[in-house]
Amino acid sequence: MDLYERIPNNVNLSGDKRLQRALEKWLPNYLDWWREMGPDGFQEKDVYLRTAISVEADGWANFDYVKMPDYRWGIFLKPAEQDAKVGFGDHCGMPAYQEVPGEFRNSLRRIIVTQGDTEPASVEQQRELGKTCPSLYDLRNLFQVNVEEGRHLWAMVYLLHRYFGRDGRDEAEELLQRRSGNPDKPRILEAFNQPCDDWLNFFCFTTFTDRDGKYQLAALAESGFEPLARTCQFMLTEEAHHLFVGETGVGRVVKRTAQLMKQDKDSDVRELGGIPLDIIQKYINFWFSYSLDLFGGEISSNSADFFAAGLKGRYKEQDQYTDHVAAHENFTLMVVEDGRLKPRDVPMRNALNEVLRGEYVKDCERAAERWNKFIVEEGVNAQVYLPSTRFHRHVGEFAGHTFDAQGNLISSEEFERRRDEWLPTFADREYVRSLMHAVTEPGKIANWIAPPKAGIKGKPFDFEYVRL
Ligand SMILES: [Fe+2]
Ligand SMILES: [Fe+2]
Repeated sequence: MDLYERIPNNVNLSGDKRLQRALEKWLPNYLDWWREMGPDGFQEKDVYLRTAISVEADGWANFDYVKMPDYRWGIFLKPAEQDAKVGFGDHCGMPAYQEVPGEFRNSLRRIIVTQGDTEPASVEQQRELGKTCPSLYDLRNLFQVNVEEGRHLWAMVYLLHRYFGRDGRDEAEELLQRRSGNPDKPRILEAFNQPCDDWLNFFCFTTFTDRDGKYQLAALAESGFEPLARTCQFMLTEEAHHLFVGETGVGRVVKRTAQLMKQDKDSDVRELGGIPLDIIQKYINFWFSYSLDLFGGEISSNSADFFAAGLKGRYKEQDQYTDHVAAHENFTLMVVEDGRLKPRDVPMRNALNEVLRGEYVKDCERAAERWNKFIVEEGVNAQVYLPSTRFHRHVGEFAGHTFDAQGNLISSEEFERRRDEWLPTFADREYVRSLMHAVTEPGKIANWIAPPKAGIKGKPFDFEYVRL
């Protein structure tokens, strides 16, 4: 591993001078983007970050103070396996693709650009959050997530430069030009154009939207295009921390709310400076539904094509399934027909977005159960829940129809009338924002969130995670 090159990498970049030069030209543009759109106001501060020193499971042992622009951005792939094969689809069992097969070139480029676009988008969405951090511990976690999303962009840009020639270089430039939420040059996927401007948004985003990332990466980690598979395998190790930040973050907010509810049973937790459970629920509804859209339509010819080509597999394709061709099975899903919900059988390959979404939903349910445990532990009788997967959808079979949070088909008039029951209102957002004041003294934490169970890497909570 060349850790101390200008572009740290384990792909022998110095052995390919043309590629190295091209990426070294992209590097300053990337840094310009980082300074313009990355965390606002903290670029010169020392942050206690983990940095990859190898691509093995223990490669994360390195924790130290780093200024974010000096982070080890780089290109790290899981080492190649001998005789890797295409693991599924019509070419199952054939040697894995080491170069891009001509007939799949457009599909692959589209997959890589779409994934790549989400990485800088999330950094842009989160750029203002540092100014209102609830603690130094949380500030550090935000920055850890941000630098790793930046590195994920590097991962995709490497593939574009290395395997897609001129088109790839153009796409890599455009990844630095689109901007989250900008009406003229928005990011590709809608969840990545939504503002993420308070910490409840951030924790819901990292719970639900980063978790979509986990499942997309897991499906691509099965890819028969080996460089993509190996890149995604390493990215997954970074992603796990983002999910931890999100899930424990929401959990700590829920826990604090339950504590305040217990403290004064008769009063609104607002009077005690907490976030009411119903507002937390609305944030969950919002981010869960937008994140479900990221999996794509329930019935999708793209999903069938990507699977047939061996480009994008199912979650844990090799561990969970024995039939890797999936050409003859059917899958039953719900659709709206003549104004009613009805089951429909579709060929399995066309339903793979929905199959992956199902895996994701199970994982989210586990997270919600965890949060409810915190409420029970405080002796409070209340719950949060996940809304129906049909609720508030903008992509796929349920887009254009309206459902209540339990998934019952309702009229659009009823939905509009009851919207404020389910989704954050302007006043809800204003209230949450009113609580967001930076707490930056080591060991101190904002009133609306509980402290974490433990610090980072064995350090105590009152460690100076960011030197301000
Ligand atoms: Fe990422
Ligand atoms: Fe992430």
